[in-house]
Amino acid sequence: MSAKANTPKVQAVLDRFTQIGIIPVVVLNDAKDAEPLGKALMEGGLPAAEVTFRTDAAEESIRIMAEKFPDMLVGAGTVLSVEQVERAVKAGAKFIVSPGFDPVVVKYCVDNDIPVCPGTATASEMIGAMNLGLDHVKFFPAELNGGLKKIKAITAALVNLKIMPTGGINAENVVDYLKNDHIFCAGGSWMVKGDLIKAGKFDEIKAKVAEAAEIVRKVRAGEI
Ligand code: 3PG
Repeated sequence: MSAKANTPKVQAVLDRFTQIGIIPVVVLNDAKDAEPLGKALMEGGLPAAEVTFRTDAAEESIRIMAEKFPDMLVGAGTVLSVEQVERAVKAGAKFIVSPGFDPVVVKYCVDNDIPVCPGTATASEMIGAMNLGLDHVKFFPAELNGGLKKIKAITAALVNLKIMPTGGINAENVVDYLKNDHIFCAGGSWMVKGDLIKAGKFDEIKAKVAEAAEIVRKVRAGEI
């Protein structure tokens, strides 16, 4: 029982998160990397990016990706304030992700029909998000907070909640996460590491992205 149904705009974004399965978490120090990285993500088969608002290049990187790749699900991560939500959306962000749960930020997003996935680590935070109208949250940092075991324990009680674990996820442990019915997608940076971006190794990134996309396909097809 969710408090109320998601708006069509929010639901469409959540459906794309679910369909893509793994959302690359990106730290860009230089906006010139946004286009080649976007290309690697699109061609590798994970047409999404959570561009973290940790660097001065984040806003411009979102703008470039959103313009160059209109079919890509580009959003902002590490969003900590309403002011950052406004900047991110203006730059073209289609969703907002945060490492933590701030009711003011979440309420602003809900009131303005902006898809938001706040970070939560406890049942209380998840209930706080649900009571603002959300039925999808991030679980962060997933591995340090008890990982899949904790997600199973919490969702035994919060039966309608969908979760995006992020933090400590990799090509090995993501398989078990994705098999859980309460997990709509996983977030992670393992395929888009900063050293590879800095070195301009976009072919290597594309290969890692393709590997991750193949994991999603295999899990969904019941092959692993
Ligand atoms: C982050 O905020 O950096 C994300 O949670 C990614 O975590 P990871 O680097 O462990 O994938």
